[in-house]
Amino acid sequence: MESEASNWKKTKQPRSKDPIFHPGFYSELPLLLTKVEGAYLEDGKSLSNWDVFCHSIGCAEGGDNGDIADDHYHMFMEDIEAMHSLGLDAYRFSISWARILPRGRFGEVNPAGIKFYNKIIDNLILRGIEPFVTINHNDLPQELEDRYGSWLNAEMQEDFLYLAEVCFKSFGDRVKYWVTINEPNMYIELAFEQGVFPPSRCSEPFGNCVYGNSDVEPLVAMHNMLLAHGRAAKLYHEEFQPKQGGLIGLVAHCFMFEPITDSELDREAAKRAFAFSVGWPLDPAIFGEYPEEMQKYLGSKLPSFSLEEKKFMKNSIDFIGINHYSALYAKDCTTSSCSATGNRAIQGFVDRVGEHDGVLIGERTGLEYLFVVPRGMEEIVNLIKTRYNNTPMFITENGYSSPDLQEQRVNELVNDVKRVEFHTSYLASLAKSMREGADVRGYFVWSLMDSYEWLEGYNVRFGLYYVDRQTLTRIPKLSARWYKNFLTNNSLVIDKNASRTKRLFTKDVM
Ligand code: BGC
Repeated sequence: MESEASNWKKTKQPRSKDPIFHPGFYSELPLLLTKVEGAYLEDGKSLSNWDVFCHSIGCAEGGDNGDIADDHYHMFMEDIEAMHSLGLDAYRFSISWARILPRGRFGEVNPAGIKFYNKIIDNLILRGIEPFVTINHNDLPQELEDRYGSWLNAEMQEDFLYLAEVCFKSFGDRVKYWVTINEPNMYIELAFEQGVFPPSRCSEPFGNCVYGNSDVEPLVAMHNMLLAHGRAAKLYHEEFQPKQGGLIGLVAHCFMFEPITDSELDREAAKRAFAFSVGWPLDPAIFGEYPEEMQKYLGSKLPSFSLEEKKFMKNSIDFIGINHYSALYAKDCTTSSCSATGNRAIQGFVDRVGEHDGVLIGERTGLEYLFVVPRGMEEIVNLIKTRYNNTPMFITENGYSSPDLQEQRVNELVNDVKRVEFHTSYLASLAKSMREGADVRGYFVWSLMDSYEWLEGYNVRFGLYYVDRQTLTRIPKLSARWYKNFLTNNSLVIDKNASRTKRLFTKDVM
């Protein structure tokens, strides 16, 4: 496969000519690891926390798991060809920790794991596609969970630092865009507050777990995660960036929170919701401190950074990665009655809801907590621009999930008009904020192909490519054709011909 690949010419395709967009990064991403890689125990990979979670209590309805996923581990060449034919400039993917360090820092580096990512990186570069690499995205070697409780223990900082160093050393000569950790805010909430992601820790009223404390543990786990990020970024800035010349950032899940009413209290609640969600990881990574609102409402429960830690946490990122899907309403809970969880300090005394007086904030998607609210893109980018002094931003995830309903036929799923409309309207909204001066350097569609969607298994589809679960055949959807057209012609207008679904089944997009 490699020799075949080496015949490819380095063909960097001309990118969008619209001056509002910086050239270089219209792309899309599936992640590797659990979601697309499969090959969960092949070539020296060890069990990750997700492998164990899925095999024991069952992580998704119907017993789905990531054992095979999209089999990207074996089909990556075909997938890279699809990216190339779409005209992508960059591909964002994540490293599976258990594939390159099966036992964390307690064992050897797995040469087969390094080789796998080298093949991906080299083949992307051969086609003029920039690798944009996330070091950690929800998964970790189970051994680190069993040994010391993963992110609840400060030891995890050492393990993450070691992982990051292995990545910089092995791939940093070619990888120029690094993300330390994907969505600490979302992951910590799901794993240590709601207890629905491994290690399934929570307490009432957030959930009913065997172990955990939802009011405290999320703060501890986040603190370790942020320090792990900060230490890895320091290492990169001091030892690798001078010779490798890349950039390093952090990705946050960024809901746009709108006040549910125009009252002063709800407006304050929307600000608090931002602070307790987006500001939670980003403020420390930029200002070296947790948001004031968190300090005020959480008091001594909130861990603090030492002077030395503040120094390396501050300005630890070269760019902010924004994963934006949806807006939600924020409702004040300091004076009015709220849900049991909204009433808690860990939530900033805010209810985050998708509905007001029986009206949804936007159309529903395949995931119940995500709604289509295009204006949210412009709003969140402007908010982040203002709060963080226009630090360079990448939209690292933005996408539309459709439910995979049993009665739907392939051609219905492939004729994904709603996904095209979603991206068209969100991109238009993004363009507005860029015209107003937001320093957005790139946009990644989530995702290239349908993949394993955590707790939803394969019941929800985000891809521009449909993946047949039996044969794993990838079929370009209407959105793939639209995106290719957008990248080639720089047009947000839907290709009129593309609405004739039949044409989509031809091979010309692949
Ligand atoms: C995560 C992805 C996930 C997507 C859709 C993001 O929060 O980074 O892993 O697939 O949301 O749920």
